Amino acid sequence: MSYKIAVLPGDGIGPEVMREGTQVLNQAAKLHGFKVELEEGVVGGASIDAHGKPLTDSVLKLTKESNAVLLGAMGGPKWDGLDYSIRPERALLALRQELGLFANLRPVKLFSALASASTLKKEVVEGTDLLVVRELTGGIYFGQPKGVTKLPDGTERGVNTEVYTTPEIERIAVVAFEAARKRRRKVTSVDKANVLEVTELWRKVVTRVHKEKGYDDIQLEHVLVDNCAMQLIRDPKQFDVMVTTNMFGDILSDEAAMLTGSIGMLPSASLGGKVGMYEPVHGTAPDIAGQDKANPLATILTVAMLLRHSLDQNEAADRIERAVEAVLNGGYRTLDIQEKDCRPVGCKEMGRLVREKIEASKG
Ligand code: IPM
Ligand code: MG
Repeated sequence: MSYKIAVLPGDGIGPEVMREGTQVLNQAAKLHGFKVELEEGVVGGASIDAHGKPLTDSVLKLTKESNAVLLGAMGGPKWDGLDYSIRPERALLALRQELGLFANLRPVKLFSALASASTLKKEVVEGTDLLVVRELTGGIYFGQPKGVTKLPDGTERGVNTEVYTTPEIERIAVVAFEAARKRRRKVTSVDKANVLEVTELWRKVVTRVHKEKGYDDIQLEHVLVDNCAMQLIRDPKQFDVMVTTNMFGDILSDEAAMLTGSIGMLPSASLGGKVGMYEPVHGTAPDIAGQDKANPLATILTVAMLLRHSLDQNEAADRIERAVEAVLNGGYRTLDIQEKDCRPVGCKEMGRLVREKIEASKG
């Protein structure tokens, strides 16, 4: 079996964490008897510098012709002044939309070795294991009208529009219920139905899907987003699957990341189209880029998600996750998860340690 993977390292720490991720991917292929053909594409700020835009047609074509896309991170202060329409982040939004990736899965699982790495109390975060299912191609990120216009009195008016239609809500609700069925069978739908009509519709449709599509084995609850933000740090263990809109999911997943010790630990999978796209949740961290300080574990865990969801290589995925756990249990830590009495390592060394554990777990 041979798979084509589009590799898009992007900007900042993207290329260095990606180097560790792709080495693990190649290793997994070798150990588990399949082939991967990796083809690199330039995206984000790097593409603006080289081609004047964040996503070229040839890179888009490459992603569409691949079995999966592995992405680093995009953006940085260098490109912050540009018009929204050509910012690095646009490439990410365009890829999500062009590939039809409406479902973003962000698992938030605390490795027990990191229970005291979080800024939150150990007894609060210990045992955290939840999945954020974020709607990814709708809502306020894409709704029309949008933009900034000049008013006759010389002031300006900025608009974005939160829009959801019944089919968009139905399909993400189904993803959440199906995911819950493989987990602890609880779905928390997050909205702002007490104020926003669009999420009143969200709540209504999620409730209907639950009732009419045979999900009565799944417990469904509705939580307002402000309360959810509080509950996440008060008692994260109450959550199993959380399903929410594009913007709420963006915000809540960063918050939830801190339950795991660092956003440098969080992988994600964007699904729904023919090709899946896999990216660490973290950004480009320009302040530490190129210094071998980044945490490659989010990207390595992202590779595990790619193997599981796009290549159906579950054993290889499990093996990578176990190796990450073993390295953490061994006390090795990158800067973002550094603790007293632990062994500080850089990005490359962390990647090497994981590969060593993968190799050792052979057979
Ligand atoms: C994320 C990021 C992106 C988003 C940005 C970089 C466009 O924050 O994937 O969470 O808002 O979706
Ligand atoms: Mg985000």
